[in-house]
Amino acid sequence: MSESTELTRADTGDRRYLVVGAHGVTGRAVLELARSRQLDAYGLSRRGGPAGSGHLKGDLTDADSLTPHRPLFSGVTDLVFASYSEQATSDRQITANMALLRGALDSLLRVAAPLRHVTLYQGNKYYGAHLGHFRTPAKETDPRLLGPNFYYEQEDLLAATARREGFAYTLLRPEAVCGVAIGNPMNLLTSLAVYAFICREQGLPLRFPGSHHAYDQILYQVTDARLLARATLWASANDAAHGEAFNVTNGDVFRWKHIFDHVGARLGMELADPQPLRLAEHMPFQSATWSNLVERFDLEQTPYEQIATWPFADALFHYPSDNVSSTIKLRHAGFTDCIDTETMFDELFDELARRRLLPRPEPLR
Ligand SMILES: NC(=O)c1ccc[n+]([C@@H]2O[C@H](COP(=O)([O-])OP(=O)(O)OC[C@H]3O[C@@H](n4cnc5c(N)ncnc54)[C@H](OP(=O)(O)O)[C@@H]3O)[C@@H](O)[C@H]2O)c1
Repeated sequence: MSESTELTRADTGDRRYLVVGAHGVTGRAVLELARSRQLDAYGLSRRGGPAGSGHLKGDLTDADSLTPHRPLFSGVTDLVFASYSEQATSDRQITANMALLRGALDSLLRVAAPLRHVTLYQGNKYYGAHLGHFRTPAKETDPRLLGPNFYYEQEDLLAATARREGFAYTLLRPEAVCGVAIGNPMNLLTSLAVYAFICREQGLPLRFPGSHHAYDQILYQVTDARLLARATLWASANDAAHGEAFNVTNGDVFRWKHIFDHVGARLGMELADPQPLRLAEHMPFQSATWSNLVERFDLEQTPYEQIATWPFADALFHYPSDNVSSTIKLRHAGFTDCIDTETMFDELFDELARRRLLPRPEPLR
């Protein structure tokens, strides 16, 4: 890790961070990182967190639910906007996610918080990744596409509010964020892990469940949530990041074939040819195996419906073309952190096991 990413309480002085969406795959890592550095940091979500975690309970679309937090909000200098609402159609996605951003900004402006910086997460949907083929490597200078796109709407609202209220902001664009989260709609890590453990438990070889084309033809990329968290704290405190958009990925690209080779070896599984299928159709039938795993390995009792997000994994494993972003701009601006994606999967599989969300990845004897 480069020194420039290691901001501590001494560097951040009187800043107070509020991470809205602190149960999510992006937000949780930011809150954990900020608190591990002893920063004055709080999270917020509808579920809230355990006592002492600094994770408040509140609904951004319900101002009354935020009233008890007003004294704390009145000291917030840095907002990390990591809330997200998955919706079936573009117009509902815009309405729901604009309400979240508006709710977050209003809750701070209402109490005249001394807001200095806001981080807004976007992603490669900004470049049209949800539409199929897009220009690679995607660059921050690429022009917008024809909407609708909730990222564009959120960015416009944030930019206008920042101009009016006099605070800075940064747009961060990760792809397939990998981190610890449960019950969220976009979670590659747990989807891949649960699929692999269920195959192993049934004595099956590990097969890539996507298209042959996605398996060994296309290049893909992901973003470690811990790396994104470090980029987030770096962006809030560095002028070079203010008013800018940055792609944030691990820094390498890969073919799924090699990731599956690696995961298979780690779990002591035989590899077999890919078998294209839809996890969203097949995995709901595997809940009994999940229950066995939970009992046998003494795991947390996570409901099977919440541990993984099959439609998201299907979209990635059937992706039609390269998904590659340029991270040159971020590096030139001073954030040079990166991680090898196979190392990331090793570390995150260990982390899931440490939290007793999944079994230890070591091969079974
Ligand atoms: N995940 C990815 O792979 C990925 C990739 C690229 C870009 N992004 C972008 O990153 C951003 C964050 O996504 P994410 O995947 O981290 O989201 P996520 O895992 O679904 O988390 C969303 C968070 O928002 C909270 N939330 C939802 N509704 C709320 C409300 N009304 N009031 C307060 N909190 C609320 C949720 O907790 P509660 O349910 O407890 O409220 C949760 O903590 C999104 O813009 C997404 O498009 C994500």
